[in-house]
Amino acid sequence: MDSDEQAASALTEAVVASFAGAADARTREVLEAVVRHAHALVRELRLTREEWRQAVDHLTAVGQACDDTRQECVLLSDVLGISSLVEAVNGEPEGTAGTVLGPFHLTDSPVRALGDSIDLVGTGTPCVVTGRVTGPDGAPVSGASVDVWQCDEHGFYDVQQPEVQPTGNGRGLFTADAEGRFRFRTVVPSPYPIPTDGPVGRLLNASRRHPYRPAHIHLIAAAPGFRTLTTHLFVADSPYLDSDAVFAVKPALVVDFAEIDDPEQAARHGVTAPFRHADFDVRLVLDDPGEGSE
Ligand code: BEZ
Ligand code: FE
Repeated sequence: MDSDEQAASALTEAVVASFAGAADARTREVLEAVVRHAHALVRELRLTREEWRQAVDHLTAVGQACDDTRQECVLLSDVLGISSLVEAVNGEPEGTAGTVLGPFHLTDSPVRALGDSIDLVGTGTPCVVTGRVTGPDGAPVSGASVDVWQCDEHGFYDVQQPEVQPTGNGRGLFTADAEGRFRFRTVVPSPYPIPTDGPVGRLLNASRRHPYRPAHIHLIAAAPGFRTLTTHLFVADSPYLDSDAVFAVKPALVVDFAEIDDPEQAARHGVTAPFRHADFDVRLVLDDPGEGSE
């Protein structure tokens, strides 16, 4: 090791040691690892002053782009695959796979009754979503809450188009019945680009990455005594399933949105034929009493 490397290594150790007094052991462990990995990155890349200045400018712009309806920090974590990696390392093999929350769960979903429509506009392809929430043993979770949100048939969430879409369009908070069943009416969501008019968009553009996400419906299922599950249903025939801009697709979450051209079935669901039907069961795992409910 030459003397420059020795000095750099001593610097890393000094910074790590500066956190030794952190009151919480996990906080100390995380901070030490952040310092070691960040210092190793600078060494490996021999990062120049100009490159570090650009990185700081970019992070500053990411922070400044956030407001009440926009979460650019989450978006950055998503396009770097960090949100999906956090999901992967916290996966529950016995339960339904989780995936990223995304930045559009910004407003409380309107409380709706089972069978209600979350589509307040009525111009897209009618769609019915049904499913059942169970525990790890397959027993129904009666009264589970099922919070869903999605973009419209043009690929926009209500919060992106406050002048065009009524607030709450594409959103609903449902309570599963005694058998854990839920159902709602909607329109088939469209693939859409994540927001590209900010610093994360500039990052994608500079890397010639496309910004599209495959069509999906977000879902959070929760019930006392169970781990809250945040996931998506992906539309099986959607483009971009193999190149999601935020790396969130998991095979078990790709669901057939079957085309049904049967007026009787349509009438039973309160829609017009032809319509699409997705059936998606949710298996929750028991909460870890040590960690408390999320
Ligand atoms: C979404 O699906 O709403 C989303 C997820 C990650 C980044 C952008 C949007
Ligand atoms: Fe989404």
